[in-house]
Amino acid sequence: MDTEVRNAGTSLLERMALGDYEQTVFCSDRSTGLRSIIAIHDTTLGPALGGVRMYAYASEEQALADCLRLARGMTYKAAAAGLHLGGGKSVIIGDPQTEKTEALLRAHGRFIQTLNGRYIPGIDIGTGQRDMEILRLEVARVSCDGRDPSYFTALGVRAAIYAAAAEAFGDRSLKGRRVAVQGVGHVGTHLAGLLVGAGAEILVCDTDTPRAHTVGKRLGVQVTSPDEIASTPCDIFAPCALGGVVNDATIDEFTCRAMAGAANNVLAEPRHAQMLVERGIVYAPDFLANAGGLICLEGELLGQDDAQLKRSVMGIGRRIDEVFARARRKGITSTEAAEQFAIERLRSRGGDVPTADRGLAEGIV
Ligand code: NAI
Repeated sequence: MDTEVRNAGTSLLERMALGDYEQTVFCSDRSTGLRSIIAIHDTTLGPALGGVRMYAYASEEQALADCLRLARGMTYKAAAAGLHLGGGKSVIIGDPQTEKTEALLRAHGRFIQTLNGRYIPGIDIGTGQRDMEILRLEVARVSCDGRDPSYFTALGVRAAIYAAAAEAFGDRSLKGRRVAVQGVGHVGTHLAGLLVGAGAEILVCDTDTPRAHTVGKRLGVQVTSPDEIASTPCDIFAPCALGGVVNDATIDEFTCRAMAGAANNVLAEPRHAQMLVERGIVYAPDFLANAGGLICLEGELLGQDDAQLKRSVMGIGRRIDEVFARARRKGITSTEAAEQFAIERLRSRGGDVPTADRGLAEGIV
């Protein structure tokens, strides 16, 4: 059920209690016109890390709902990835194209700094690296103000693809396997290159047609149309564009035996996980497969070098192996197994975690 509909008529404090949120901060600054919200979901495992989203929300309620949902998703993403980070998020209400100013970002930063490191901001929709550099003028700890983590996200997705191949075909090797990469933006382009290096036969697409052809030519791989990528025969499908790719309309189109990619919320609804099982498609849960960027951000905060970062990111493969084994053992979907893993980790640190029916799939972003 839609979060806003389910929460209609419930007070904010009740909503926070229901979702086990620690803190929600509403920020207003008259001189810059700032209206923003910071949500800290859970700091059991460490400071809450999450992006700053700037978006022209239709209402304050919509902004709050988005902020809460995204913050909770970050808790489970970090927990499932074995990180020492909690979950948080902030949203600035406004159009990033026309309303974003340095003064506005700095005002938001000053509110973040009042939390004394409990929330560490990063990039999200409507903000970029330059904005993080501005936030750093006010906030002691900021992530994403150095390099773009997309390469590490792609490395993690490749590790997830190896694990999914082992589960689907009994063989990790990608030599000769046909992999369809949907979306060749920051992550998809790195991923396609890594997969070519692993001996796979790659097929790419992008709604930005010139971009798809540039990448296709550079890597010497086949380019197809975005409308046909799901149904084009392949062994592995790697969604690296938008979420909701697996839905009622598309579920029967897929010809692949395994799926692992960078996109968030690949499954339109939690029930699609079971539908993939019934179609004989092995699915590496998105919030584990795409955690490489987050692992890299934590590593940078800890001062790790590139070799350490790569080792940590490659751990995604082992974690997904464990998730597949648990799913087989318990007769549950890989998504449920990954969620259980995250919940156990939070519980083992004394975290106050939601019950299963207030699970994660809806909130993973
Ligand atoms: P991006 O915006 O650089 O690339 C996305 C690409 O997909 C663009 O080139 C766009 O034209 C294309 N696209 C959009 N709709 C499409 C469609 N229907 N069919 C084919 N192509 C389509 O984004 P980025 O950074 O590469 O991220 C990709 C996905 O991975 C996003 O869903 C993002 O939220 C997720 N993600 C990214 C991380 C990162 O480190 N960049 C970390 C974790 C998740």
